Amino acid sequence: MYSFDHVIERRHTYSVKWDETERFFGVKDVLPMWVADMDFQAPPAVIEAMTKRVEHGVFGYTAIPRSLKEALSEWLTTRHQWTVHPDWMSFSTGVVPALATAIEAFTSPNDRIVVFSPVYPPLFQLVQKNGRELVKCPLRFTEKGYEINWDDLQEKLKGAKMLLLCSPHNPGGRVWTKEELTTLGTMCLEKGVIVVSDEIHADLTLPPFQHTPFASIDEAFANMSVTCVAPTKTFNLAGLQCASIIIPNRSLKKQFDAAQQRQGFFTLNTFAVVGAEAAYRHGGEWLDALLMYIQKNIEMTCSFIDTSIQKLRAVRPEATYLVWIDCRELGITEQQLKQLLLHKGKIAVEMGSKFGEEGRGFIRLNIACTRKTLEDALNRLAVAFEGL
Ligand SMILES: Cc1ncc(COP(=O)(O)O)c(C=O)c1O
Repeated sequence: MYSFDHVIERRHTYSVKWDETERFFGVKDVLPMWVADMDFQAPPAVIEAMTKRVEHGVFGYTAIPRSLKEALSEWLTTRHQWTVHPDWMSFSTGVVPALATAIEAFTSPNDRIVVFSPVYPPLFQLVQKNGRELVKCPLRFTEKGYEINWDDLQEKLKGAKMLLLCSPHNPGGRVWTKEELTTLGTMCLEKGVIVVSDEIHADLTLPPFQHTPFASIDEAFANMSVTCVAPTKTFNLAGLQCASIIIPNRSLKKQFDAAQQRQGFFTLNTFAVVGAEAAYRHGGEWLDALLMYIQKNIEMTCSFIDTSIQKLRAVRPEATYLVWIDCRELGITEQQLKQLLLHKGKIAVEMGSKFGEEGRGFIRLNIACTRKTLEDALNRLAVAFEGL
């Protein structure tokens, strides 16, 4: 019913992934497998709703309608068994801007903010650029992927004001279990630490794994947390710039909204509103089909690496289309790794140290592309490491 095999030319569309690779990597004609967006078209219902809106032709200031909040609320109930009242929702142009607002709203300069590492880099950068103290809590890399070092977390939470959680986790694709989140939440609650949970990858959880929204576990957790969700990763709408921030605690929500007003945020753009509502209302079937396609791409990637590039170890993600690959057995530096990938393999991927020192020696491969592109990418990886 939905074809993800169809190759769509993305060059010359101002795509960061396809048009900016040379600027970021300094090399021409490499296959871009880095930025976390997908090469697929958005769900047909989203394209239809936006086309209709384009045809209307008037693009004046657009309000955030109650119907969008209701659509998201229904989505969260159906997909994540989480009952969210529309009044708990605020909106933003992205999860990253929302995290910045949360830092401004709930902490003061020099306050300690705990962040796991390796992680999506803006989580570190936002803390530092806002003059807060970054307290890194390194994750443990095990056979099962990343795990939280509980003793270290207990220590690091002392005197902290906030914990920035990435759930599911990027990179590595761990879907934190309800038990892990309960332990984490209990520790934060005891120490009065606000949990800001970036759940942008939640809808991309791959069965049989199941995402548990942090705030859904317990009323006490809901009361001390801010959850960021978005239709942008799920439905490949990053260019629309839209995120929802769920804050059940009324006083915290007031503080968040006041910070947004100080920053001059007023409303979303017309297409974010139209696209998000159509996606949440009609995108479920498309998403299920997408997840099946992604699962197959992951299987293909892992088995190719297992059989053809034996010194590499692909971490099978429990969520997301980003495969974290351990290259440490090659025994080369990250600079050498990068050179081989760019110049010999002709492929651009994210280098692990971008996600924190703990990520050094790993690479992150974005497999949200057609199978044809993926085959090409895997062959390029093999070429890059031939003879090593
Ligand atoms: C964990 C995480 N949070 C946030 C973002 C970006 O969110 P936004 O585009 O809504 O700012 C990404 C994108 O890769 C991500 O991986």
